[in-house]
Amino acid sequence: MDKTQAGSFESTQEFLVMRNIYESAVKQLALKFEILNSEFNIQYSRSPIHHIESRVKSAQSIMAKLTKKGMPYNIASAKENINDIAGVRVVCNYIDDVYRVAEIFERQKDVEILKKQDYIKEPNYNGYRSLHLDTRIPVYLSDRTEYVVAEIQLRTIAMDFWASLEHQMKYKKDIKNPEMIVRELKRCADELASCDLSMQTIRNLIRDEH
Ligand code: GTP
Ligand code: MG
Repeated sequence: MDKTQAGSFESTQEFLVMRNIYESAVKQLALKFEILNSEFNIQYSRSPIHHIESRVKSAQSIMAKLTKKGMPYNIASAKENINDIAGVRVVCNYIDDVYRVAEIFERQKDVEILKKQDYIKEPNYNGYRSLHLDTRIPVYLSDRTEYVVAEIQLRTIAMDFWASLEHQMKYKKDIKNPEMIVRELKRCADELASCDLSMQTIRNLIRDEH
């Protein structure tokens, strides 16, 4: 499929097959985290995960990303060049939960970690914080096993709150005072990070009282 056929990308049988495989991977990944959370609930009477979001990238966004990267417009190229066609976001209550959940997930035998980016230890210039895991998991089909790449973002509620607002700004074209907003966002990111640390410390103090 070349660029001129881009309009049909979404409706081809090949694309439907691909989307179904990514949807299966996303379901499997979300379930892995749900299982961890419910086990924690039973063992320790608490949930490390606040909520889980997941999505498969739309055909339009896949094409936009291929264009941006200057990569060919076909399904093989999308699979090879885009690591977040399948995306799962795990929003945790506390920073320690982020690392604990990630560590337990990484130890699972069918999970291969391709890349780990720790934007909590080293935040982006703008203040963005999250732990990113590019992972590959097997999806068992009727006649074969497909190894599917997915991007997992683990973050706290505060980091998620910040990232949603910052994301809105990126899509707004005619912002009057962008420098001020960028500066304020960075300030908020740092304040939220400091709150996350304090909340973690207070929680540990309360826990150690028992
Ligand atoms: P790709 O994964 O190919 O995009 O490149 P990369 O691995 O260098 O990207 P990275 O893992 O840093 O970021 C991937 C995703 O993280 C993005 O699609 C966003 O969802 C999220 N992200 C990264 N940086 C920011 C940021 O500054 N602000 C917000 N709101 N989200 C971000
Ligand atoms: Mg990435």
